[in-house]
Amino acid sequence: MEDSIEVIMQDRRVFTTSRPHPVLSACTGALLTGLYGVWSLFVMPGFRKIPWSLKVPYLPSSKDQTLNTMKLLEGRAGRLADLGSGDGRLVFAASSAGFQCTGFEINSILLTYARNKARWTGVPCSQASFVKKDFWKTDLSTYNNVTAFLAPGVMGLLGEKLLKELPDDARVIACRFPFPDWPHQSSAGSGLDQTFAYDISSVRWHLRNVRNTAV
Ligand SMILES: C[S@@+](CC[C@H](N)C(=O)[O-])C[C@H]1O[C@@H](n2cnc3c(N)ncnc32)[C@H](O)[C@@H]1O
Repeated sequence: MEDSIEVIMQDRRVFTTSRPHPVLSACTGALLTGLYGVWSLFVMPGFRKIPWSLKVPYLPSSKDQTLNTMKLLEGRAGRLADLGSGDGRLVFAASSAGFQCTGFEINSILLTYARNKARWTGVPCSQASFVKKDFWKTDLSTYNNVTAFLAPGVMGLLGEKLLKELPDDARVIACRFPFPDWPHQSSAGSGLDQTFAYDISSVRWHLRNVRNTAV
């Protein structure tokens, strides 16, 4: 009996005195900070000049999402802008369908990757180009096709910009996050892979009737 109490007491002592080793804690903290630094460098570089409310991190489109986007672009042609082109997957899919594409991207690492991929795979610049530009500060009026996989919080503002700039015959594809006040023409897929197509002339017509103002 005495023995077992002693054992219990000993166990307690071990339990109460076992604190995390300070060096180990410091190393774990440094490692986690480093990993966060690398992650944010990859996901968010070039973001310093963008207001907090407009920041959109990198998240690649899934295969289905890309296919759904392409489905909604069937029968279309001409110039296409991908707003936030990431590693270029939407641009490559659209350029192989015959569009002249521009990917706007502020993350230099992703931009370098996409440009190199275009070079390796022999996609000419006339079909797919990647530019380091903030699309909020870019005039998009020469594009008749626009794709955007961004974030729910920026879609309202993006809608206002596109309505000001795009020609009447333009089509916009929103991936995963629809425009809050726009009626979509059609959609493809479901859940996280759903994409929405909007024809600018119809959106303008709808908003003119709803708001009773010129757009
Ligand atoms: C959700 S990811 C989509 C990437 C890609 N379009 C795809 O479908 O895989 C959004 C991308 O937009 C970029 N981005 C965010 N704000 C931007 C801005 N103002 N101008 C250009 N690119 C931007 C981010 O760096 C990120 O790569």
